[in-house]
Amino acid sequence: MSVLLLHHGLLSICQLLELQCGGGSITPRVQSFILEHCMGNIVDQGTSYSHTYIRNILKKIIVDAESSSDVVVDGLYEEFGQYLTLNLEEGSQKENDRIYRQVSFLSSTIDDDVCSKPVNLVVRLVCSLNMLEGDTGCSLWPSSLFLSEFILSYPEIFSNKFNFEVGSGVGLVGIALNYVGASKVILSDGDMSTLTNMKANVELNCTNGSSNRVAECKYLPWESASEAELQQYRPDIVLGADVIYNPQCLPHLIRVLSILLKPQNREEVDNRISLHEAEGSPVSYIATVVRNLDTFNYFLRLASEANLLVLNISETAKPLNLLPYMLSYDQSNVRLLKISLICD
Ligand SMILES: C[S@@+](CC[C@H](N)C(=O)[O-])C[C@H]1O[C@@H](n2cnc3c(N)ncnc32)[C@H](O)[C@@H]1O
Ligand SMILES: *[C@@H]1O[C@H](CO)[C@@H](O)[C@H](O)[C@H]1NC(C)=O
Ligand SMILES: *[C@@H]1O[C@H](CO)[C@@H](O)[C@H](O)[C@H]1NC(C)=O
Ligand SMILES: *[C@@H]1O[C@H](CO)[C@@H](O)[C@H](O)[C@H]1NC(C)=O
Repeated sequence: MSVLLLHHGLLSICQLLELQCGGGSITPRVQSFILEHCMGNIVDQGTSYSHTYIRNILKKIIVDAESSSDVVVDGLYEEFGQYLTLNLEEGSQKENDRIYRQVSFLSSTIDDDVCSKPVNLVVRLVCSLNMLEGDTGCSLWPSSLFLSEFILSYPEIFSNKFNFEVGSGVGLVGIALNYVGASKVILSDGDMSTLTNMKANVELNCTNGSSNRVAECKYLPWESASEAELQQYRPDIVLGADVIYNPQCLPHLIRVLSILLKPQNREEVDNRISLHEAEGSPVSYIATVVRNLDTFNYFLRLASEANLLVLNISETAKPLNLLPYMLSYDQSNVRLLKISLICD
């Protein structure tokens, strides 16, 4: 714990909170907390720490954790490993330091259905150490890990479909969609620096054998996207991960979803001799962490006012656990919603 106190200026409130809960030793819970809530903030606005400095702090935390607790959370080693591979001679960095995060989706042979195709997808993502950079879009959030697991678990829903994602951030979901053979993928975000970062990740990871399919990355702020622009896309599936958190954006997000979820072609739908009503209409899958119940309920209210049917399918459509080694990530914190437009 000494190291944490020494660096309290750096990790401050995070530890002060956890010091009490951890009872003085760096328990796995404390380690996960530091990883999830402190590492991203380490490069504070206006203050920059060299890679060497952060690496040394991580090392001390690991050493302390090893001596005071039996378990060291994998993520700490992962984080430390990332610093080892960075050029430590770069000296003082600008506030938005980049790191590479490797995410390996692997199906275990034990609990898998023998019939389903094994998953082996390794993704390398450029992320920022600053959680707030690019309007939060340059960090990887648990909902996109979850949504990617969902896509890889139920590939038949997404393959040979036109998939459109809003608020794509680092672009992981698009890489998963490309892997399962989506016929078209458009990723989007309302933040320019996020978009630049996303493009780099997509180019790095959206190769498929000889063909380089590459998902498109579009600038799409929910506030100002025009109805005409949104209508032209006509996706089969609309996706979103961790996009329900800012109450001010929610009316705009609902508007975007409503337009994207409109049945593609009115006549075509009307002429269908009452097949299953949803057949052919677009659906949306949104993964989310409910951090603030008021915000979430506000989303539900707006959705209902806009004639959107929101189903909580967290229990009924659980994804496989494809990230067993990523201990800092817990599927059970993420909810999955299936949304469609109620047609009259
Ligand atoms: C918490 S991040 C989630 C990123 C990614 N989907 C993930 O789960 O890792 C929220 C994302 O939504 C984008 N976003 C937030 N408000 C937006 C808006 N009004 N219009 C478009 N994108 C927005 C942000 O730029 C950011 O990339
Ligand atoms: C390439 O696409 C096929 C389906 O079209 C898929 O089965 C395969 O996993 C993809 N490979 C990669 C590396 O994305
Ligand atoms: C993602 O990029 C890494 C590093 O270049 C590469 O090893 C990996 O195969 C890429 N993944 C895909 C699915 O193309
Ligand atoms: C969705 O369902 C799950 C499991 O039934 C439940 O734990 C969760 O509270 C529900 N979440 C929301 C946001 O409705």
